[in-house]
Amino acid sequence: MAVTERSGDNYILSSGRDGHERLRLLCALHDPFSRRLLLDAGLCSGKTFAEFGCGLGCVSRWAATRGARTTGVDLSHDHVSEASRLASEEGIEQVEFRQGSIYDSDLPEGTFDFAYCRFLLSHLSRPVAAMHTMAACLRPGGVLVCEEPDLKTIYAEPPSSAYDEAVKRILQLADSLALDFRFATKLALNALSIGLEVQRADAYQRHFLGGKEKGYWTWSFAEARPSLLSTCSSPAEVDKCLSDMRKVDRDPTVIVGHARVHQLVARKPA
Ligand SMILES: C[S@@+](CC[C@H](N)C(=O)[O-])C[C@H]1O[C@@H](n2cnc3c(N)ncnc32)[C@H](O)[C@@H]1O
Repeated sequence: MAVTERSGDNYILSSGRDGHERLRLLCALHDPFSRRLLLDAGLCSGKTFAEFGCGLGCVSRWAATRGARTTGVDLSHDHVSEASRLASEEGIEQVEFRQGSIYDSDLPEGTFDFAYCRFLLSHLSRPVAAMHTMAACLRPGGVLVCEEPDLKTIYAEPPSSAYDEAVKRILQLADSLALDFRFATKLALNALSIGLEVQRADAYQRHFLGGKEKGYWTWSFAEARPSLLSTCSSPAEVDKCLSDMRKVDRDPTVIVGHARVHQLVARKPA
């Protein structure tokens, strides 16, 4: 397994070791849905599969175990190293991980059966250009699969002012960084606009009363704390909001709805 160095893009969450545990939780929360989606889209043995923003490579490693010849690309050298290490540890051979930006990945054009990303486009200042890059690496008839969260849909019931405040601030932060944390809702229309045939545009949402899973978004917002400070008059304001969210996460009488995840399957015309 090769690990190749490339230059990259901005990212507000931790891209180092600190982020590993949160990424493992993200995989536990979403892998079953991603696997079902990819199998329904036709992923099987002998296909070529490219994943962009692969993180620890959970989906890439799984695709390789299904017999797909897999390449995972991520901006973070640290994530790529960990993904490669895990693949070696698990004895998975049909997977290669490369460090690089989706905008500049050097993957050969017109060759892959599948181009996939999960929770990546919302972090990019040019998500449509990134979809173009993914489509460019597909062979005619190849399939683009994207999964993105709509951050506006995170909520607590009974309502929590801390959750409401955090969602408001994270959307403000996205605006100030020219990011779109609601890009999920635009996946299908953008796929059409770049000439793809949309085969599936769907969404699911996870809800929790308790457990570590419930606090996933509090954890993510805490990782984005350095960037969130720019939306507040004092660090104490952000810290109070995070601490109140943690109280909600520990309260078994409050249900937390995670960000709704939009799923897109689109085909490159043959
Ligand atoms: C929220 S994580 C999701 C990781 C993985 N897709 C998953 O669902 O487990 C986003 C990933 O995108 C990577 N990333 C951010 N900007 C990128 C870029 N411009 N090109 C490639 N990867 C990028 C980050 O390093 C991080 O690993």
